[in-house]
Amino acid sequence: MKYDFDRIIDRRSTDSVKWSEKLLQNRFGNKESIPMWVADMDFMVAEPIRNALIERAQHGIFGYGQKSDEFLEAAVNWQRKRNDWVIEKEWILFTPGVIPALNYIVETFCNRGDKVIIQSPVYYPFSRIIKNNGCHIANNPLILTNGKYQMDFSKLEELACDSRTKLMILCSPHNPVGRVWTEAELRQLGEICIRNNVLVVSDEIHSDLVYPPNKHIPFGKISEEFAMNSIICTSPSKTFNLAGLQLSNIIVPNERIRQELNNKLQTIGIDPNSFAAVAQVAAYNHGEEWLEQLLAYLQDNLRFIEGFINERMPRVKLVKPEATYLAWLDFSDYGLTPQELQAVMREKAKVALDDGYIFGPGGEQFQRINFACPRAILEKALERIANSIDDVK
Ligand SMILES: Cc1ncc(COP(=O)(O)O)c(C=O)c1O
Repeated sequence: MKYDFDRIIDRRSTDSVKWSEKLLQNRFGNKESIPMWVADMDFMVAEPIRNALIERAQHGIFGYGQKSDEFLEAAVNWQRKRNDWVIEKEWILFTPGVIPALNYIVETFCNRGDKVIIQSPVYYPFSRIIKNNGCHIANNPLILTNGKYQMDFSKLEELACDSRTKLMILCSPHNPVGRVWTEAELRQLGEICIRNNVLVVSDEIHSDLVYPPNKHIPFGKISEEFAMNSIICTSPSKTFNLAGLQLSNIIVPNERIRQELNNKLQTIGIDPNSFAAVAQVAAYNHGEEWLEQLLAYLQDNLRFIEGFINERMPRVKLVKPEATYLAWLDFSDYGLTPQELQAVMREKAKVALDDGYIFGPGGEQFQRINFACPRAILEKALERIANSIDDVK
């Protein structure tokens, strides 16, 4: 079956956070702004998922659900098929999203005053989660060299050897800079953390959206020692556009760590809702054909952005993502303050992007654009940006 990713679907009539006119007005100053910020896609989900959800809805009874064998096996088989990683059903804990999982993890494994390592610019809720749990951010800023972000391993070692540092939240692949970390990089990071007794939480929510020749390596697959010192957060939500169904699979190979985290989840009382469970099974068992077509469309969108920038905005530098449908645009050549850059996007271009500075130090001169939309919308947004930034300086 051939899926149509060019089709424009009106989302304003749904409860979409991305397209909410009220939110666009309040946060971005104009309800007519083109929303290219929060990370969900403007594409219809794969037909097998829609059909499975319709069938479940028609059953008509929505009592308490559970993690069925089918649900767990779908996640196990997906890891084997896509990443060649063999995991056990028993390792999987369910949470209603990766953000909730990260909160429960920090709550469970840190005390107030402990430090948690992150690498900015990075997905901004990480900082909020750390601070709201009474912990401190130990930031290891990424280094941008020749258009590619790298980790600073000597600073990482310094931060990790502080006795108050308990956890590292790794973003793999990395949002917003789009890096797919190589095995060598992950090994170096993992060894530093093991040496210093720092538990690695690897957020792999974007790991199915990787562009060749890059290859995602699950952190826990690298070695038994790495598996024992990690929690791997996965979900079909970014991959298959299911974020509103709130589901994620938290893979914890270490039994002691798993039991501790599970105790927390049991206390709160968390099980998959009926629709999330059905969607996961359909997505992982029957969604691959759609995913392959999606990846091809996203790569075409990326080529379109590249061509457009070269031709119309040559002073903007694209940090080309190796994964994710998020492009990180460098406006530093214009010498604007973050507030001035924000004003150009919001007031002149009327395009709702995520401002780079919210991702932490190193993001100030950037804007993040979500390109998981029909090409016609992407083109319209880029035109607006080019026309507005053109007369800046
Ligand atoms: C790196 C990363 N982690 C987590 C999330 C959100 O996860 P969830 O919707 O499962 O809470 C996002 C969403 O953009 C993300 O980019």
